[in-house]
Amino acid sequence: MADVFTHDLIIFGAGLAGLRAAIEASRVTQGDLDIALISKNQLMRAHSVAAEGGTAAMLRPEDGDSFELHAWDTVYGSDFLADQDVVDRFVRAMPGEIMQLEHWGIPWTRRPDGHIAQRPFGGHSYPRAVLAQDKTGFFEMQTLYDNVNRHQKVKHYNEHYITTILTEGNRFCGLCAIDMTTGKFKVIRGKALIIAAGGAGTLFGFTTYSQTVTGDGMALAYRAGIPLEDMEFLQFHPTGLVPSGILITEACRGEGGYLINNKGERFMHKYAPSKGELAPRDLVSRSEMIEIEEGRGFEGPNGLDYVHLDLRHLGAKKINEQLPLIREVCIEFNDLDPIKEPIPCRPVAHYSMGGIETDIDGKTRIDGIWAAGEAGCSSLHGANRLGSNSTAECLVWGKITGEKAGQYCKETGAAAEIPEGKVDAEHKRIFEDLMGKKGEENLYEIRRELRTCMDDHVGVFRTGEQLSKGLEKVKSLRKRFANICIDDKNSVYNTNLYHALETDNLLDLAEAMVLGAVTREESRGGHARRDFPKRDDDKWQRHTLAFRTDDGPRLDYKPVTVTTWKPVERKY
Ligand code: FUM
Repeated sequence: MADVFTHDLIIFGAGLAGLRAAIEASRVTQGDLDIALISKNQLMRAHSVAAEGGTAAMLRPEDGDSFELHAWDTVYGSDFLADQDVVDRFVRAMPGEIMQLEHWGIPWTRRPDGHIAQRPFGGHSYPRAVLAQDKTGFFEMQTLYDNVNRHQKVKHYNEHYITTILTEGNRFCGLCAIDMTTGKFKVIRGKALIIAAGGAGTLFGFTTYSQTVTGDGMALAYRAGIPLEDMEFLQFHPTGLVPSGILITEACRGEGGYLINNKGERFMHKYAPSKGELAPRDLVSRSEMIEIEEGRGFEGPNGLDYVHLDLRHLGAKKINEQLPLIREVCIEFNDLDPIKEPIPCRPVAHYSMGGIETDIDGKTRIDGIWAAGEAGCSSLHGANRLGSNSTAECLVWGKITGEKAGQYCKETGAAAEIPEGKVDAEHKRIFEDLMGKKGEENLYEIRRELRTCMDDHVGVFRTGEQLSKGLEKVKSLRKRFANICIDDKNSVYNTNLYHALETDNLLDLAEAMVLGAVTREESRGGHARRDFPKRDDDKWQRHTLAFRTDDGPRLDYKPVTVTTWKPVERKY
């Protein structure tokens, strides 16, 4: 029924974190490890290629930056929900990652004196985002991809859709996957797994994410018994292009761009006197929404009212040299040249601060499973991530998990046996139960309604009433999902089947996110409750854990690791 393939290490996801992990796992085992790199996309189509503005690192202590300052900015930006030991590890590891990519040949943008350039980003008190124009993720991916190809024992499974994680007791033993090009069902066994399959932002309709990013890694880990942590913290980036949602990088403001309302006012200094447009994302997004709600925005299509991002004063030379992708995107998608006209922008779903619960090494509660990058939650970002800390996180935890999982594979005799009947049960679930569904519900309508529900009820500002309605809606969509029909019965590129599997994943993640949000009765970072407008450290300086049960998520909590800084009021 299924072809069986056996490797030492399996990496689920081939974006920045996955590629970085593959290189490190191979390196620590002197190229001896047999590694499977599995992605539902073609290589180099991972969403990491869309990262734009930069990657944060402390490079210039002689000029006033320091590890302590980067750590403080991150903890303060996180609204004191980040684990401070994790933050410390991160900031100290980052300079090495920048230099590593430099040695591997990445074309970092340079200063006139030839040194690596850095630009300002929101919430950072030093301009520490290292960049490759406004295509940083693309060049990082290209550099890692070239490097992965030097490792002979990394086998690529492109266009393979993973349907389940198999465990034996509390130990990882393999995966089931479908080769999307043929429809063939495969079992891929391994001693260890690194989940690096990205975030959950396509839960929302207006989003910067590629439509392929559907939280598959998070959802499968959740079903395998690993809790999801802090899922209620979803980042809205302040500048999504209206109406497409394409990311207009924060580097536009880092390079000096202004946010302007319909009265022609630069409004951000009213909300963040010291930082203005370079306040952290949660605060800028809330400020934009207030401007729009109070009638100082511009009317956009389908309720997508917006403010203006004005780059005109930067001049053609700067825009062409530092922000060429942004100019190209605006011309291609909006027929608008930012050298001459302001850009219509509004807050857009951009990043999951939460994810698969891990320890500081990226290790989960199941032996042999690690998670890295946006899929994982080692609690680096807390309630609000600073821009340019995410590509950085992918590099740091790609390396750490690659090293740890590589060593684990070296020390572990053989992959655990797959318990009798588990593969047959998964085959039946997909090819009989799901493919055999003959219900009347339209899968695409459910997916559309889910996204509208998240946009409407789980946005920048939230209330208990809205969230409760959202939760009811998600539950009703879950019930309707049981009654879908998969019309396409073909084997080759059956996107109808993959969309059903993705929607199933998104529904699980939505329930965990909305339940976490309705239960957290305070405002912190990206979670802004109008009915609980203050941060409540006594009750809520703790991480949410969502465990999957047949009756929906069960919530539990765990403490935040505070090593250096006690919470103080957050003002910019
Ligand atoms: O605005 C940006 O370029 C996004 C960066 C990030 O999310 O870190």
